[in-house]
Amino acid sequence: MTIIVTGGAGFIGSNFVFHMLNKYPDYRIVCLDCLTYAGNLSTLAPVMDNPNFRFVKESITDRKAVYKLFEEEKPDMVVNFAAESHVDRSIENPQIFLDTNIIGTSVLMDACRKYGIQRYHQVSTDEVYGDLPLDRPDLFFTEDTPIHTSSPYSSSKAGADLLVLAYHRTYGLPVTISRCSNNYGPYHFPEKLIPLMIANALNDKPLPVYGEGLNVRDWLYVEDHCKAIDLIIHKGRVGEVYNVGGHNEKTNIEIVKIICKELGKPESLITHVADRKGHDMRYAIDPTKIHNELGWLPETKFEDGIKKTIKWYLEHKEWWETIISGEYQNYYEKMYGNR
Ligand code: NAD
Ligand code: DAU
Repeated sequence: MTIIVTGGAGFIGSNFVFHMLNKYPDYRIVCLDCLTYAGNLSTLAPVMDNPNFRFVKESITDRKAVYKLFEEEKPDMVVNFAAESHVDRSIENPQIFLDTNIIGTSVLMDACRKYGIQRYHQVSTDEVYGDLPLDRPDLFFTEDTPIHTSSPYSSSKAGADLLVLAYHRTYGLPVTISRCSNNYGPYHFPEKLIPLMIANALNDKPLPVYGEGLNVRDWLYVEDHCKAIDLIIHKGRVGEVYNVGGHNEKTNIEIVKIICKELGKPESLITHVADRKGHDMRYAIDPTKIHNELGWLPETKFEDGIKKTIKWYLEHKEWWETIISGEYQNYYEKMYGNR
Protein backbone atom coordinates (compact mmCIF):
# COMPACT_ATOMS: atom_id res chain seq x y z
CA MET A 1 0.00 0.00 0.00
CA THR A 2 1.45 3.36 -1.04
CA ILE A 3 -0.26 6.50 0.25
CA ILE A 4 0.53 10.04 -0.88
CA VAL A 5 -0.07 12.34 2.08
CA THR A 6 -0.13 15.97 0.97
CA GLY A 7 0.58 18.71 3.52
CA GLY A 8 2.41 16.19 5.72
CA ALA A 9 4.86 18.82 6.98
CA GLY A 10 2.02 20.76 8.61
CA PHE A 11 0.16 20.23 11.87
CA ILE A 12 -2.40 17.48 11.23
CA GLY A 13 -0.61 15.98 8.22
CA SER A 14 2.57 15.32 10.22
CA ASN A 15 0.61 13.71 13.04
CA PHE A 16 -1.11 11.53 10.41
CA VAL A 17 2.25 10.53 8.86
CA PHE A 18 3.52 9.44 12.31
CA HIS A 19 0.28 7.56 13.04
CA MET A 20 0.34 5.66 9.73
CA LEU A 21 4.05 4.73 9.79
CA ASN A 22 3.65 3.54 13.34
CA LYS A 23 0.46 1.54 12.81
CA TYR A 24 1.20 0.05 9.36
CA PRO A 25 4.89 -0.96 9.15
CA ASP A 26 4.33 -2.40 5.64
CA TYR A 27 2.82 0.80 4.15
CA ARG A 28 4.83 3.28 2.11
CA ILE A 29 4.02 6.91 2.98
CA VAL A 30 5.02 9.62 0.51
CA CYS A 31 4.68 13.16 1.81
CA LEU A 32 4.07 15.82 -0.84
CA ASP A 33 4.47 19.30 0.62
CA CYS A 34 5.81 22.55 -0.84
CA LEU A 35 6.79 23.87 2.62
CA THR A 36 4.89 27.13 2.86
CA TYR A 37 5.35 29.22 6.02
CA ALA A 38 3.20 26.56 7.77
CA GLY A 39 5.24 23.55 6.64
CA ASN A 40 8.31 22.60 8.60
CA LEU A 41 10.75 19.91 7.54
CA SER A 42 12.16 19.63 11.07
CA THR A 43 8.74 18.34 12.13
CA LEU A 44 9.33 15.24 9.99
CA ALA A 45 12.88 14.64 11.30
CA PRO A 46 11.79 11.58 13.36
CA VAL A 47 10.75 9.70 10.18
CA MET A 48 13.20 11.02 7.58
CA ASP A 49 15.36 7.90 7.86
CA ASN A 50 12.44 5.48 7.80
CA PRO A 51 12.81 3.38 4.59
CA ASN A 52 8.99 3.40 4.20
CA PHE A 53 8.91 7.21 4.08
CA ARG A 54 9.74 9.67 1.30
CA PHE A 55 9.48 13.46 1.33
CA VAL A 56 8.89 15.37 -1.92
CA LYS A 57 8.99 19.18 -1.96
CA GLU A 58 6.48 20.20 -4.62
CA SER A 59 3.19 22.08 -4.78
CA ILE A 60 -0.13 20.33 -5.32
CA THR A 61 -0.88 23.10 -7.84
CA ASP A 62 2.06 22.00 -10.04
CA ARG A 63 0.41 19.56 -12.45
CA LYS A 64 3.68 18.37 -14.02
CA ALA A 65 5.27 17.65 -10.65
CA VAL A 66 2.15 15.88 -9.35
CA TYR A 67 1.85 13.67 -12.46
CA LYS A 68 5.56 12.83 -12.26
CA LEU A 69 5.13 11.74 -8.65
CA PHE A 70 2.16 9.54 -9.56
CA GLU A 71 4.22 7.92 -12.33
CA GLU A 72 7.05 7.23 -9.89
CA GLU A 73 5.02 6.05 -6.91
CA LYS A 74 1.84 4.56 -8.41
CA PRO A 75 -0.08 5.42 -5.21
CA ASP A 76 -3.02 3.34 -3.99
CA MET A 77 -4.45 6.26 -2.05
CA VAL A 78 -4.13 10.03 -1.68
CA VAL A 79 -4.99 11.83 1.54
CA ASN A 80 -5.10 15.57 0.91
CA PHE A 81 -4.21 17.72 3.93
CA ALA A 82 -2.36 20.37 1.89
CA ALA A 83 -4.10 23.70 2.25
CA GLU A 84 -3.82 27.28 3.29
CA SER A 85 -5.49 26.80 6.66
CA HIS A 86 -5.63 30.08 8.60
CA VAL A 87 -8.88 32.09 8.51
CA ASP A 88 -7.20 35.42 9.42
CA ARG A 89 -4.70 35.10 6.57
CA SER A 90 -7.56 34.33 4.16
CA ILE A 91 -9.21 37.60 5.15
CA GLU A 92 -5.98 39.46 4.28
CA ASN A 93 -5.18 37.56 1.06
CA PRO A 94 -7.87 35.24 -0.35
CA GLN A 95 -6.18 34.44 -3.70
CA ILE A 96 -3.62 31.90 -2.47
CA PHE A 97 -6.47 30.06 -0.70
CA LEU A 98 -8.31 29.63 -4.00
CA ASP A 99 -5.13 28.48 -5.78
CA THR A 100 -4.06 25.88 -3.24
CA ASN A 101 -7.34 24.74 -1.77
CA ILE A 102 -9.42 24.57 -4.97
CA ILE A 103 -7.01 24.34 -7.92
CA GLY A 104 -4.58 22.11 -5.98
CA THR A 105 -7.41 19.71 -5.13
CA SER A 106 -8.46 19.52 -8.79
CA VAL A 107 -4.88 18.79 -9.91
CA LEU A 108 -4.60 15.93 -7.40
CA MET A 109 -7.92 14.46 -8.51
CA ASP A 110 -6.99 14.77 -12.19
CA ALA A 111 -3.86 12.76 -11.42
CA CYS A 112 -6.01 10.17 -9.63
CA ARG A 113 -8.26 9.89 -12.70
CA LYS A 114 -5.30 9.65 -15.09
CA TYR A 115 -3.31 7.04 -13.19
CA GLY A 116 -6.09 5.27 -11.25
CA ILE A 117 -6.55 5.18 -7.48
CA GLN A 118 -8.27 3.07 -4.81
CA ARG A 119 -9.21 6.09 -2.72
CA TYR A 120 -8.90 9.88 -2.80
CA HIS A 121 -9.59 11.36 0.64
CA GLN A 122 -10.24 15.07 1.15
CA VAL A 123 -9.52 16.46 4.60
CA SER A 124 -12.14 19.14 5.05
CA THR A 125 -13.54 21.23 7.85
CA ASP A 126 -16.72 21.92 9.81
CA GLU A 127 -16.31 25.55 8.73
CA VAL A 128 -17.99 24.71 5.41
CA TYR A 129 -21.30 24.62 7.34
CA GLY A 130 -20.91 28.24 8.52
CA ASP A 131 -21.83 28.81 12.15
CA LEU A 132 -24.55 28.09 14.70
CA PRO A 133 -26.23 30.63 17.01
CA LEU A 134 -25.07 30.72 20.64
CA ASP A 135 -28.64 30.57 21.94
CA ARG A 136 -29.44 27.20 20.26
CA PRO A 137 -27.24 24.64 22.06
CA ASP A 138 -29.57 21.94 20.69
CA LEU A 139 -28.29 22.50 17.11
CA PHE A 140 -25.31 20.60 15.62
CA PHE A 141 -23.75 20.26 12.16
CA THR A 142 -24.74 16.99 10.48
CA GLU A 143 -23.55 15.84 7.06
CA ASP A 144 -26.87 17.17 5.70
CA THR A 145 -26.40 20.69 7.05
CA PRO A 146 -26.28 23.04 4.02
CA ILE A 147 -22.93 24.50 2.99
CA HIS A 148 -23.02 28.14 4.13
CA THR A 149 -19.54 29.62 4.42
CA SER A 150 -18.34 32.82 6.10
CA SER A 151 -14.66 33.36 5.22
CA PRO A 152 -12.54 33.09 2.08
CA TYR A 153 -10.85 30.10 3.78
CA SER A 154 -14.07 28.18 4.41
CA SER A 155 -15.40 29.12 0.97
CA SER A 156 -12.27 27.70 -0.66
CA LYS A 157 -12.62 24.49 1.37
CA ALA A 158 -16.31 24.25 0.43
CA GLY A 159 -15.43 24.79 -3.24
CA ALA A 160 -12.94 21.93 -3.02
CA ASP A 161 -15.52 19.66 -1.31
CA LEU A 162 -18.07 20.30 -4.05
CA LEU A 163 -15.44 19.54 -6.69
CA VAL A 164 -14.54 16.28 -4.92
CA LEU A 165 -18.19 15.18 -4.89
CA ALA A 166 -18.54 16.23 -8.55
CA TYR A 167 -15.50 14.10 -9.53
CA HIS A 168 -17.19 11.17 -7.82
CA ARG A 169 -20.52 11.64 -9.57
CA THR A 170 -19.14 12.61 -12.99
CA TYR A 171 -16.05 10.41 -13.29
CA GLY A 172 -16.76 7.78 -10.64
CA LEU A 173 -13.62 8.75 -8.69
CA PRO A 174 -13.61 6.78 -5.39
CA VAL A 175 -13.61 9.68 -2.95
CA THR A 176 -14.38 10.28 0.71
CA ILE A 177 -14.49 13.54 2.67
CA SER A 178 -14.04 14.16 6.39
CA ARG A 179 -15.22 17.42 7.98
CA CYS A 180 -13.56 17.86 11.33
CA SER A 181 -13.86 20.44 14.09
CA ASN A 182 -10.92 22.37 15.62
CA ASN A 183 -7.86 20.22 16.32
CA TYR A 184 -5.20 20.82 18.97
CA GLY A 185 -2.00 19.00 19.91
CA PRO A 186 1.72 18.78 19.01
CA TYR A 187 3.12 20.69 16.00
CA HIS A 188 0.17 23.12 15.87
CA PHE A 189 1.45 26.27 14.15
CA PRO A 190 1.70 29.12 16.71
CA GLU A 191 -0.59 31.47 14.74
CA LYS A 192 -3.61 29.41 15.92
CA LEU A 193 -5.48 30.08 19.19
CA ILE A 194 -4.14 27.35 21.51
CA PRO A 195 -0.41 27.36 20.57
CA LEU A 196 -0.41 31.17 20.27
CA MET A 197 -1.78 31.51 23.81
CA ILE A 198 0.68 28.93 25.18
CA ALA A 199 3.67 30.64 23.53
CA ASN A 200 2.58 34.15 24.60
CA ALA A 201 1.80 33.06 28.16
CA LEU A 202 5.21 31.40 28.46
CA ASN A 203 6.79 34.67 27.29
CA ASP A 204 4.56 36.74 29.62
CA LYS A 205 3.11 38.53 26.58
CA PRO A 206 -0.51 39.75 26.23
CA LEU A 207 -3.05 37.07 25.27
CA PRO A 208 -5.07 38.62 22.41
CA VAL A 209 -8.70 37.47 22.58
CA TYR A 210 -10.87 38.58 19.66
CA GLY A 211 -13.93 40.55 20.81
CA GLU A 212 -15.49 39.25 24.01
CA GLY A 213 -14.08 35.74 23.53
CA LEU A 214 -17.53 34.15 23.63
CA ASN A 215 -17.20 32.36 20.28
CA VAL A 216 -17.43 28.59 20.69
CA ARG A 217 -15.18 25.98 19.07
CA ASP A 218 -15.49 22.17 19.34
CA TRP A 219 -11.96 20.95 20.20
CA LEU A 220 -10.58 17.52 19.24
CA TYR A 221 -7.15 16.08 20.05
CA VAL A 222 -5.26 15.68 16.77
CA GLU A 223 -4.56 11.94 17.23
CA ASP A 224 -8.30 11.27 17.40
CA HIS A 225 -8.74 13.06 14.06
CA CYS A 226 -5.92 10.97 12.52
CA LYS A 227 -7.59 7.77 13.75
CA ALA A 228 -10.89 8.87 12.21
CA ILE A 229 -9.23 9.44 8.80
CA ASP A 230 -7.47 6.07 9.08
CA LEU A 231 -10.89 4.41 9.58
CA ILE A 232 -12.55 6.36 6.76
CA ILE A 233 -9.89 5.56 4.13
CA HIS A 234 -10.00 1.85 5.00
CA LYS A 235 -13.67 1.30 5.85
CA GLY A 236 -15.63 4.41 4.86
CA ARG A 237 -18.16 4.24 2.04
CA VAL A 238 -17.06 5.79 -1.26
CA GLY A 239 -18.84 9.04 -2.14
CA GLU A 240 -19.65 9.78 1.53
CA VAL A 241 -18.96 12.69 3.84
CA TYR A 242 -18.13 11.97 7.51
CA ASN A 243 -18.27 14.64 10.22
CA VAL A 244 -15.59 14.27 12.92
CA GLY A 245 -15.85 15.89 16.35
CA GLY A 246 -15.97 14.97 20.01
CA HIS A 247 -18.72 17.11 21.60
CA ASN A 248 -16.18 19.27 23.36
CA GLU A 249 -17.42 22.84 23.05
CA LYS A 250 -15.56 25.64 24.78
CA THR A 251 -15.64 29.43 24.46
CA ASN A 252 -12.33 31.03 23.50
CA ILE A 253 -12.11 32.83 26.83
CA GLU A 254 -12.55 29.50 28.67
CA ILE A 255 -9.66 28.03 26.64
CA VAL A 256 -7.37 30.96 27.42
CA LYS A 257 -8.20 30.81 31.13
CA ILE A 258 -7.48 27.06 31.21
CA ILE A 259 -4.06 27.72 29.60
CA CYS A 260 -3.30 30.48 32.16
CA LYS A 261 -4.24 28.13 35.01
CA GLU A 262 -2.18 25.20 33.67
CA LEU A 263 0.87 27.44 33.22
CA GLY A 264 0.41 29.36 36.50
CA LYS A 265 0.12 32.66 34.61
CA PRO A 266 -2.16 35.57 35.65
CA GLU A 267 -5.43 36.14 33.76
CA SER A 268 -4.43 39.82 33.69
CA LEU A 269 -2.38 38.89 30.58
CA ILE A 270 -5.70 38.52 28.69
CA THR A 271 -6.23 41.47 26.33
CA HIS A 272 -9.40 41.91 24.32
CA VAL A 273 -8.56 43.02 20.77
CA ALA A 274 -10.61 43.88 17.67
CA ASP A 275 -12.86 41.05 16.52
CA ARG A 276 -12.19 38.93 13.41
CA LYS A 277 -14.24 40.13 10.41
CA GLY A 278 -17.23 37.82 9.80
CA HIS A 279 -16.29 35.83 12.92
CA ASP A 280 -18.21 32.53 13.15
CA MET A 281 -20.00 32.26 16.53
CA ARG A 282 -20.24 28.54 17.22
CA TYR A 283 -19.11 25.28 15.66
CA ALA A 284 -20.51 21.99 16.96
CA ILE A 285 -20.27 18.63 15.21
CA ASP A 286 -22.74 15.77 15.37
CA PRO A 287 -20.46 12.72 14.91
CA THR A 288 -23.30 10.12 14.93
CA LYS A 289 -22.59 8.88 11.39
CA ILE A 290 -18.90 8.04 11.86
CA HIS A 291 -19.71 6.51 15.25
CA ASN A 292 -22.56 4.31 13.97
CA GLU A 293 -20.92 3.29 10.68
CA LEU A 294 -17.25 3.01 11.62
CA GLY A 295 -17.28 2.77 15.41
CA TRP A 296 -15.18 5.92 15.84
CA LEU A 297 -15.18 7.71 19.19
CA PRO A 298 -12.73 10.30 20.50
CA GLU A 299 -10.31 8.74 23.00
CA THR A 300 -8.65 11.81 24.53
CA LYS A 301 -10.52 13.87 27.13
CA PHE A 302 -9.90 17.62 26.78
CA GLU A 303 -8.50 17.86 30.34
CA ASP A 304 -5.83 15.29 29.42
CA GLY A 305 -5.26 16.50 25.85
CA ILE A 306 -4.60 20.09 26.86
CA LYS A 307 -2.15 18.97 29.57
CA LYS A 308 -0.30 16.75 27.03
CA THR A 309 -0.27 19.63 24.53
CA ILE A 310 1.12 22.15 27.03
CA LYS A 311 3.77 19.62 28.11
CA TRP A 312 4.73 19.13 24.45
CA TYR A 313 5.17 22.90 23.92
CA LEU A 314 7.26 23.12 27.09
CA GLU A 315 9.48 20.26 25.90
CA HIS A 316 9.76 21.50 22.29
CA LYS A 317 10.53 25.18 22.81
CA GLU A 318 13.12 25.12 20.07
CA TRP A 319 10.50 24.04 17.49
CA TRP A 320 8.14 26.95 18.11
CA GLU A 321 10.73 29.54 19.16
CA THR A 322 12.46 29.08 15.79
CA ILE A 323 9.12 29.64 14.03
CA ILE A 324 8.05 32.71 15.99
CA SER A 325 11.46 34.39 15.71
CA GLY A 326 11.53 34.23 11.90
CA GLU A 327 9.31 35.68 9.16
CA TYR A 328 6.31 35.01 11.43
CA GLN A 329 7.27 38.14 13.43
CA ASN A 330 6.09 40.34 10.53
CA TYR A 331 2.71 38.59 10.45
CA TYR A 332 2.39 38.82 14.24
CA GLU A 333 3.17 42.54 14.33
CA LYS A 334 0.69 43.23 11.52
CA MET A 335 -2.03 41.28 13.36
CA TYR A 336 -1.41 42.26 16.97
CA GLY A 337 0.92 45.29 16.86
CA ASN A 338 4.25 45.45 18.60
CA ARG A 339 3.25 43.72 21.87
P1 NAD B 1 -1.26 23.59 8.38
O1 NAD B 1 -1.40 24.98 7.89
O2 NAD B 1 -0.61 23.33 9.70
O3 NAD B 1 -0.46 22.71 7.29
C1 NAD B 1 -0.69 22.82 5.92
C2 NAD B 1 0.43 22.10 5.20
O4 NAD B 1 0.13 22.13 3.79
C3 NAD B 1 1.81 22.76 5.37
O5 NAD B 1 2.79 21.78 5.59
C4 NAD B 1 2.04 23.45 4.03
O6 NAD B 1 3.41 23.57 3.69
C5 NAD B 1 1.31 22.52 3.09
N1 NAD B 1 0.88 23.20 1.85
C6 NAD B 1 0.24 24.39 1.73
N2 NAD B 1 0.06 24.68 0.43
C7 NAD B 1 0.58 23.64 -0.28
C8 NAD B 1 0.68 23.36 -1.67
N3 NAD B 1 0.24 24.21 -2.61
N4 NAD B 1 1.27 22.21 -2.06
C9 NAD B 1 1.76 21.34 -1.13
N5 NAD B 1 1.70 21.56 0.20
C10 NAD B 1 1.11 22.70 0.61
O7 NAD B 1 -2.73 22.97 8.33
P2 NAD B 1 -3.46 21.96 9.33
O8 NAD B 1 -4.03 22.71 10.46
O9 NAD B 1 -2.56 20.82 9.57
O10 NAD B 1 -4.67 21.49 8.40
C11 NAD B 1 -4.50 20.42 7.49
C12 NAD B 1 -5.81 20.20 6.74
O11 NAD B 1 -6.85 19.91 7.67
C13 NAD B 1 -6.28 21.42 5.95
O12 NAD B 1 -6.83 20.97 4.74
C14 NAD B 1 -7.35 22.04 6.82
O13 NAD B 1 -8.31 22.71 6.03
C15 NAD B 1 -7.94 20.81 7.49
N6 NAD B 1 -8.52 21.00 8.82
C16 NAD B 1 -7.81 21.60 9.81
C17 NAD B 1 -8.35 21.69 11.09
C18 NAD B 1 -7.59 22.32 12.23
O14 NAD B 1 -8.15 22.50 13.31
N7 NAD B 1 -6.31 22.66 12.07
C19 NAD B 1 -9.62 21.17 11.33
C20 NAD B 1 -10.33 20.58 10.29
C21 NAD B 1 -9.76 20.49 9.04
O1 DAU C 1 -13.06 24.31 12.71
C1 DAU C 1 -11.97 23.84 12.00
C2 DAU C 1 -11.04 24.98 11.67
O2 DAU C 1 -10.39 25.34 12.88
C3 DAU C 1 -10.03 24.62 10.59
O3 DAU C 1 -10.71 24.37 9.38
C4 DAU C 1 -9.01 25.76 10.39
O4 DAU C 1 -8.01 25.37 9.47
C5 DAU C 1 -8.37 26.05 11.74
O5 DAU C 1 -7.46 27.13 11.61
C6 DAU C 1 -9.43 26.38 12.78
O6 DAU C 1 -10.08 27.63 12.47
P1 DAU C 1 -10.46 28.69 13.62
O7 DAU C 1 -10.60 30.02 13.00
O8 DAU C 1 -11.58 28.19 14.45
O9 DAU C 1 -9.11 28.57 14.53
P2 DAU C 1 -8.18 29.72 15.21
O10 DAU C 1 -7.21 28.98 16.05
O11 DAU C 1 -7.66 30.68 14.21
O12 DAU C 1 -9.20 30.48 16.14
C7 DAU C 1 -9.97 29.81 17.11
C8 DAU C 1 -10.85 30.83 17.79
O13 DAU C 1 -10.03 31.70 18.56
C9 DAU C 1 -11.62 31.72 16.83
O14 DAU C 1 -12.89 32.01 17.37
C10 DAU C 1 -10.80 33.00 16.76
C11 DAU C 1 -10.19 33.08 18.16
N1 DAU C 1 -8.85 33.71 18.24
C12 DAU C 1 -7.87 33.26 17.43
C13 DAU C 1 -6.60 33.81 17.48
C14 DAU C 1 -5.51 33.33 16.56
C15 DAU C 1 -8.61 34.70 19.19
O15 DAU C 1 -9.52 35.09 19.95
N2 DAU C 1 -7.36 35.25 19.24
C16 DAU C 1 -6.35 34.85 18.42
O16 DAU C 1 -5.23 35.42 18.52
